[in-house]
Amino acid sequence: MSPRRAGPSIVPPVRVFNRTSGFELSVATARDMMEKFTSHRPLAGLKVLDVGCRNGESVRALTDLGADAFGVDVAQRCVEHAKRRFPELADRYAQADLRNLTGLGEADFDLVTCVGVLPYTPSSTWLASLAGMARLCNARGEVRVLLQREKPLALTLAVRGLSRIPEPLYARVAAPVVTAGVWPLSRWLLGAQMRPAEVHYRVSLSLYGLTFGVPGELLPFEVPVEASAYVSPALSRAFALPAGFASTIPIGGAGGAGRARSS
Ligand SMILES: C[S@@+](CC[C@H](N)C(=O)[O-])C[C@H]1O[C@@H](n2cnc3c(N)ncnc32)[C@H](O)[C@@H]1O
Repeated sequence: MSPRRAGPSIVPPVRVFNRTSGFELSVATARDMMEKFTSHRPLAGLKVLDVGCRNGESVRALTDLGADAFGVDVAQRCVEHAKRRFPELADRYAQADLRNLTGLGEADFDLVTCVGVLPYTPSSTWLASLAGMARLCNARGEVRVLLQREKPLALTLAVRGLSRIPEPLYARVAAPVVTAGVWPLSRWLLGAQMRPAEVHYRVSLSLYGLTFGVPGELLPFEVPVEASAYVSPALSRAFALPAGFASTIPIGGAGGAGRARSS
């Protein structure tokens, strides 16, 4: 991938939780998650793009599995951290917004993965973003996306409240407190027994400014979610979109994506 600078951005800036140190997943956890998320499909030799690659561990894990892997993230700070953390892969990380991936060059990916990222953008833009990812795939390509299930109103309101906390205060105070409270209950609340570091990463980070739900239009493409150290089927839904999916969504159109439905 040789990312060109995209033209003037047509999308408003996103609010992201761009902490780096202390919010890293281990490569082993990323590998476990990627293997299960891709249904143990052999990845060797596939050209793979991970959208929302954060601190780089997914690209390292995909490379270890034999893929020709690249990653993009909207947070420049995360991209720089990924390059420092995995210098041998530095030219494989780039900054890009999933709502405008037109700067990434020709469409020849065999697989585009997007794990836990779409909910950071308004649900009205999801289908157009997914079509943008599908356009990056070759004729045999596939987009795999993981979304959170719609949450109960109380949790949605709690997330809205937490999202109003200034980011440094959130990182130093709110996130550790939430982690300490959630970790002992992780099997009950998250559907998997997680280590404190994974709860800290997954839950605390996820509570920052999320939109919950999945667009009903995706339901025909739903695939099983396998439990891993980091993802529980009870809270997540996964979809495998064929490259042809892009042609069903008008370019730049929301295509009804705002109708996020509960599961
Ligand atoms: C919860 S992390 C998930 C990271 C990784 N995929 C994982 O599963 O561990 C969300 C990531 O999405 C990125 N992100 C948020 N909005 C984005 C956007 N519009 N385009 C690209 N990346 C975005 C954030 O910077 C952050 O790194």
